[in-house]
Amino acid sequence: MDIYDEVMELARRRGFLWHSFEIYGGTAGFYDYGPLGAALKRNIERLWRRFYIAGEGFYEIETPIIGIEEIFRASGHLSSFTDPIVECESCKEFFRADHVGDRCPSCGGAFGEVFEFNLMFETSIGPGSKRTGYLRPETAQGMFVDFPRLLRFFREKLPFGVVQVGKAFRNEISPRQGLIRLREFTQAEAEIFIDPTNKRHPGFDAIKDETLMLLPEGADEASKWRLHDAVKEGVIASEFLAYHIYLTYRFLIEIGISHDRLRFRQHEADEMAHYAADCWDAEVLLDRLGWVEVVGIADRTDYDLRAHEAVSGEKLRIFRAYDETDTVKRVKLKPKMALIGPRFKDRAKKIAEALDLIDATTIGDQDIVLNIDGEEVTITQDMFESVTVEEEISGEEVIPHVIEPSFGIDRIFFAVMEHSFYQEEVEGEMRNVLRFLPGIAPIDACVLPLLGSREELLELSKQIHQNLRRAGFIVEHDASGTIGRRYRRQDEIGTLFCITIDYETIEDNTVTVRFRDSMDQVRVKVDELPDWLSRECGR
Ligand code: ATP
Ligand code: GLY
Repeated sequence: MDIYDEVMELARRRGFLWHSFEIYGGTAGFYDYGPLGAALKRNIERLWRRFYIAGEGFYEIETPIIGIEEIFRASGHLSSFTDPIVECESCKEFFRADHVGDRCPSCGGAFGEVFEFNLMFETSIGPGSKRTGYLRPETAQGMFVDFPRLLRFFREKLPFGVVQVGKAFRNEISPRQGLIRLREFTQAEAEIFIDPTNKRHPGFDAIKDETLMLLPEGADEASKWRLHDAVKEGVIASEFLAYHIYLTYRFLIEIGISHDRLRFRQHEADEMAHYAADCWDAEVLLDRLGWVEVVGIADRTDYDLRAHEAVSGEKLRIFRAYDETDTVKRVKLKPKMALIGPRFKDRAKKIAEALDLIDATTIGDQDIVLNIDGEEVTITQDMFESVTVEEEISGEEVIPHVIEPSFGIDRIFFAVMEHSFYQEEVEGEMRNVLRFLPGIAPIDACVLPLLGSREELLELSKQIHQNLRRAGFIVEHDASGTIGRRYRRQDEIGTLFCITIDYETIEDNTVTVRFRDSMDQVRVKVDELPDWLSRECGR
């Protein structure tokens, strides 16, 4: 078994993770999180929210999982969210055409024609299939289409950030990599709406000397870059993007991704999503799978808002006031009212107003045809002249740009499992350990009465267990098997501390607390346990 198999086997056996619909034989691309897996996933999401909501001051919203057709027509997903697909002519299995060679990897058969397959799941809204809907392939679109209301909520000021944590769906062609390629998965995405003319970030100065392993487009291998240099040399397109690449790094380290198995890779120009101007993937090194993308951090420019503006007809812009009122020269058309008045009588005023809106630089030596009250009116060249005037302008309507960190929680979950996993021999026996960090570990502690103990020790251990649970800790109680076996069981699920109740507990009201990784032991007073655990768990 390689590490991938070890981790997946442990995950199944100990209640982290298993195939969905197992009693019916399962279906590729769907996984259930068991009791410990669901707890671990929630802890990762909780920390993510702490970073982006508490830390950055963004707000979380919740929009439907099903989107209407217009959304995905505008976003480009209907036309472009496809993968090339081939079918094996002999075993009839489908494969992503860009992931296989000339012959079927299952049976060696020949492939048929390559065709494009749209990855969105289609459904119908309401009875009678009147309206087509799609399961969202990213949570992002819900945040773009809410832009006008969000803009009002944020008092018409940029920048502002909105996040969603929720399910996304992609009908992946042949998902064979566990949590890495699911058909239903969890994304945590932030859309940060910024001024397109100002991609500096107020927090950049404080982090500009930090270094990251970057693999820029065209480079052969990743190397260490100081963020300041990466922005200055145009490797990372802006301070704003660099800030969010660094924030992604901080988050991944704080949940337990190992520093030396993490890098940021820039997309090649032909790999970039249809909406992105610059895009970096946080990649983690996994044992069997190699470097795998877990987060995409993109500058989506104004692509999405502009596209939704065109399809919906709603204005998705913000008025950006200039620091100072600008005086600009404008060439405009000045109507000769002495001619227009008598000729057009009560329509003359409307004609003058219509002429005022025309950009005079677009008019050569030609007559102008206007539509006045539904009627075409021709204004000949002798009825107007071009004049240059000075006008005061206080601002302009702009479409914001969007910086988007997009986290795949399931891929991150698996990476945390694999990077936390290690095995070591202790007294002739192998112990498996999941070295989860405090705040991420699904179980804080386990209370263990000494084996063969008197009834009163068992009772005391149950009391301590209950008191700790009531104090808000996630605590197990285990009274079966040798103490060594019980320690191993807890090590394997990443429990931070084992609390052993022994005879001394009755005598001096203290317990033995064992640290998972070092296996060191200390004695702690029972009354002080909640405070001690709070401190050690970083609460
Ligand atoms: P890949 O190239 O590996 O298919 P992607 O470039 O399509 O990934 P994005 O569209 O950037 O991925 O999605 C953002 C994040 O969502 C990814 O970094 C990943 O963590 C997660 N994600 C995307 N597709 C899947 C999937 N099928 N299963 C699990 N997570 C996924
Ligand atoms: N929102 C980025 C993606 O899912 O493609």
